[in-house]
Amino acid sequence: MISVALDGPAGAGKSTIARRAAAELGFVYIDTGAMYRAIGLAALKSNIDTGDVEAVKALLPGISLHLAFENGDQHIYLGDEDVSSDIRTEEVSMAASRVSAIPAVRTFLLELQRGFARESNVIMDGRDIGTVVLPDAQVKIFLTASPEERAKRRTIQLEEKGEKADYETILADIIKRDYNDSHRETAPLRPAADSIIVDTTELDLEQSVNMVVNTIREKIV
Ligand code: DC
Repeated sequence: MISVALDGPAGAGKSTIARRAAAELGFVYIDTGAMYRAIGLAALKSNIDTGDVEAVKALLPGISLHLAFENGDQHIYLGDEDVSSDIRTEEVSMAASRVSAIPAVRTFLLELQRGFARESNVIMDGRDIGTVVLPDAQVKIFLTASPEERAKRRTIQLEEKGEKADYETILADIIKRDYNDSHRETAPLRPAADSIIVDTTELDLEQSVNMVVNTIREKIV
């Protein structure tokens, strides 16, 4: 099996680029952020303080998380409920960032994530795929863009959906999440030593997808 690890900070375009690249290469796209988001959502639904490590840990045994692939799109279920849209709010983003710092949460998801890579050729996107989850991945890409560019893209995305978007608030959130994700003790966000850095600040979506697909093709032929 071939595994591609695609890591990088929030808002670098990982999921859109990974989905497109996976479709072009015939690989399965696995979004690990969605798994952390689902746990963040489960904590919010149970009215648990996501900073309360013991309370979040106590919640884990009762969480049944699974993925389904419908027309190439990943859907994520908490129990019987498809929560794929519910996990996309700013509130859940922050909850996910907080629960992802808890080692027990990371361990809970690790085997699930590795299982997918054993079964299929995957492009797996996350923060620690190249460093922790799939250290033997044949291709490791660290996708990044400046915080300002990422905030700009997110603002446009929300405006297009007709949602309220304030650039300064979004930028502050991105900077805070970057800090949380890269300063936590367990599996912090950092490029694997053998990763290829792809900076998309100056690239549009089409160019970014091409860059990632070409990088993968060069490594696997
Ligand atoms: O990629 P995303 O924004 O959907 O991820 C949500 C949160 O989960 C983010 O704050 C970082 C965390 N995360 C992680 O710690 N490790 C991963 N492999 C994927 C996401």
